[in-house]
Amino acid sequence: MDKNPFKDVGGNWMFLLHPALTTLLTACFEKRETITPVAWLMPLSGQPPLLAMALKPTRFSYRLLKGAGQFAINLPFFADAEKVWECGTTSGKDTDKFQRTGYTRISAEVVNAPLIKESAGFLECKLFDDRPYGDHRLIVGEVLRAVVREDLFTDSFRHYPALLHIHKNLFLPPDWGRMNTCREKIKQAK
Ligand SMILES: Cc1cc2nc3c(=O)[nH]c(=O)nc-3n(C[C@H](O)[C@H](O)[C@H](O)COP(=O)(O)O)c2cc1C
Repeated sequence: MDKNPFKDVGGNWMFLLHPALTTLLTACFEKRETITPVAWLMPLSGQPPLLAMALKPTRFSYRLLKGAGQFAINLPFFADAEKVWECGTTSGKDTDKFQRTGYTRISAEVVNAPLIKESAGFLECKLFDDRPYGDHRLIVGEVLRAVVREDLFTDSFRHYPALLHIHKNLFLPPDWGRMNTCREKIKQAK
């Protein structure tokens, strides 16, 4: 009989859904702020513009986002993997992550949250909904402003050397060259 080629991954099932785009959540409340990597994030609705993310309530960022009712999502570069890892292994509760990473703080335009200047783009969001699901909260944000670095966003966003999260401290850059090859094949097939 053939050996079953599949094995049970148990509690690691969520990593079957990675690599996932790594984003940096920033929030500010009562003069405290933090930078928190979030990879469990997705678009939820185009109209109204909503995004959803899974955030553990034990994160300092949850306390700030909940208190402020607003937050921002920053898009980091692959080259910043170490800074992102630093932000994901420390808490804003006891460390100033801007100072620690050397990221430059700039002001958001429509929400009260710091933005990271060294990002490919930002989404400024208002807290729209927040519900418990197991050990995480489902945070829904309404996107009030979305901006991107002009030089990266040409006909599509394919020049963005994004930071894709695999597991723990393992990250991948996207392979945009292969995407173009695939496009060519689709054209030829027509
Ligand atoms: C690449 C990466 C992705 C992460 N994604 C999430 C996530 O989607 N949701 C979450 O609650 N925590 C996630 N974390 C963990 C938090 O970023 C981490 O606990 C962080 O230190 C919390 O910081 P804070 O206490 O300042 O909010 C992730 C960590 C890393 C390194």
